[in-house]
Formats: sequence, C-alpha cells, structure tokens
Amino acid sequence: MRRVPVDQLKTGDRVAKDVYADPAGLPLLKAGIRISDSYRESLKRAEVPAVWVDDGLSKGIEPLEVLSEQTKRRATLAIRDAFRDGPTTLVTGKDMPDKTVREMIDVVDLIIDEVAQNVDAALALNDLANADGYTLKHSLAVTTLGLSLGLRVMQRYGWFDAKDKLRFDDVHGRLPALGVGLLVHDIGKLAVPPEILQKPGPLTPEEWVAMKTHPMEGVRILQHATVSPLSRAVVRSHHEQWNGAGYPAGIAGSKIHQFARVAAVADVFDALTSDRHYRKAWPVQKAWRFIIERSGTHFDPEVVNVFKSSVAPYPPGTDVTLSNGTMGIVKDVRPDKLTTPLVRVVFDATGAEIAPQEIDLSETPGLTIIDEA
Ligand SMILES: [Fe+2]
Repeated sequence: MRRVPVDQLKTGDRVAKDVYADPAGLPLLKAGIRISDSYRESLKRAEVPAVWVDDGLSKGIEPLEVLSEQTKRRATLAIRDAFRDGPTTLVTGKDMPDKTVREMIDVVDLIIDEVAQNVDAALALNDLANADGYTLKHSLAVTTLGLSLGLRVMQRYGWFDAKDKLRFDDVHGRLPALGVGLLVHDIGKLAVPPEILQKPGPLTPEEWVAMKTHPMEGVRILQHATVSPLSRAVVRSHHEQWNGAGYPAGIAGSKIHQFARVAAVADVFDALTSDRHYRKAWPVQKAWRFIIERSGTHFDPEVVNVFKSSVAPYPPGTDVTLSNGTMGIVKDVRPDKLTTPLVRVVFDATGAEIAPQEIDLSETPGLTIIDEA
C-alpha cells in the first residue's frame, strides 16, 4: 500500500486501511472501499490529510506502525477530555479533575510501552495522521515522537538531576512525566481566541502577543493538578530555542529543560508535516532537513543528532523520484541507512510503467532520491 494525499486520490482507488475522521468513533471509510467523488469530498471536509491505498504497484509494502489503533483511540479520547476540562480550570481556577489526569497518565504508559518496543527501529511518523482536528492529532504525534526521541536522548547523553549530576539510570522512570507534558503541551491554546488559532494568513504583531501567551496559560491550567513539575516544564518551555530566540522566557542552552528541548523538535517537525490553515503539509524529507539545518541555533544539537539517526526522511509508502528520472515507492527503510532506503521502481524516466524492480539505494552509490522543493 502507499500513502496518497487526499487531493491526489483517483476515483476507483482502493482504500487499504480504515480511515478515521474521529479515532474514537467509527471509521469514515472502511478498508476495501473504492474512492468516489463524494467520498473524496467527505475526506476533505473531515480534514483527513492522506489515505493508504492498495494498488498492484505497491503490493506488499506496509507502513511502519508506531502505535496500535487501540492506543491511538484511547489517547485521542484522553487528550479530548483534558481539552474539555481546560476551559473550566482556566475560568474558575479549579483543579483539573483527577480522573482526567489519571487517564492521561495511563494512556502515556501505553504509548511508552509501544515506543520502548521499537527503540531500535526506524521511526516513521506518516501513519499517525488520522485523529480529528489539528490539536488532537498534533498532540498525539508530538507525544509519540517526543517519547521516542526523549528515551534515546537520555540513553545516549544521560540526564541531569536536581543536584546537577549527570545520570544514565532510571531513564524509563522519567518517561511518564515527559509523556504527560507532551500530551498537553498546547493546552494553553484554549486561552487564545479561535480566530487567531485558525487564521489562514500570517499573524499581526498583536495577534502574536496573544499566541505567545499559550505556554504560560498552559502552566496556569495545570497549576494545581496532580501533574509533575517536569511535565509543566514541557508546557512552559516548548517554544524556547537553543540560542535564546524563543519564548516565553528567552532562555538558552541547558537553561531550557531537556524535556522541553526534546518537545521543541517533535513539535516543529509535526507542525511542518501537517496541513495547516495557512499552508499545506511539507514532504517529510523537507521537514527532516529543516530540523537538521537548525541544530545548535533553534534546536539542541544532542536532540537533533538523535532525530537524524532515528527518524526516517522517506518512510515506507512514500512516492519518490530518483536521480536517473525513474520513479517508485519506498518499500523498506533500515535504521542504520535512513537516507538510502529500499525502493520499488515502477515507472521509467519517460513515465511509462515498467516491471517492478527493487533497488537498494545504499548499494547504488550514483543513484539518489531527488527531493521535492
Ligand atoms: Fe505550542
């Protein structure tokens, strides 16, 4: 199967995996159904970015699953509850209900289990995009990527305790606090007017001032709740930058909590690879390069090193053009050869279909993938 953006779906294309507009509800389209004009319209209305399609050319190509459907559904419900209870907490100053916080912690445990099982695998995040609404989908994707990166960053570089001692023990014990912080990192957006959040164009300086209140509003919402201070550090500092150019505090380097430095990479990468009101999603590979080019300026170099060696720039199911003009679909990606995947070539340089040919780019030095601009 391969992943096809909704506006490139053709009538008659066969859906390969259930499509959810609401991951907590019933599927919008079931696997096996063929795309019609009206289905394409409903997909657009439900803001579904892309659909996995089965065709002869991509037979046997499977997406890398990061999370099970069941965990995705439960996590989406937990995030939705936290966002439902947030406004009351904002207005009344009352605690977020214990039940909501407990469910977040339980869901984070499930995500950690699935992420930890895949710690040596390549990370492909192109299969997470099926939650409804940007914030829910974004919160889940950032949690999954952030936990995967955080686990690897602490294993490779360690973490500093309250006495400023570098430690390599108890890495897994720190993950729940990181996960909860990632899950609700943007909860303060509840305090930002929807006209600003959903504005299709660039924000005015005044609107930016309102937007930039969301980290501290998030801390306010979570102030009394039984949420770890480490989780609040993620909420407070996920827009700080390594060179001090971020907000709300403008702090730099290791003054920014390690969890927030991890969150910053996960947050920007997922935002760039998602459709937004003001721009279309970037191809994964373009967002991947964006993060790597900003190592040491916007982002913590240690987090970027881990990102570069674990996130796949061309996940399985991606259409690619090679430097000799032929075209194909990424079949498989190996964790130690992320930039040179196995490609099934199905079109020659004139665009004519050819007998599928599998090419291992790590063994064909002259041949590379041509990136979309
Ligand atoms: Fe944010």
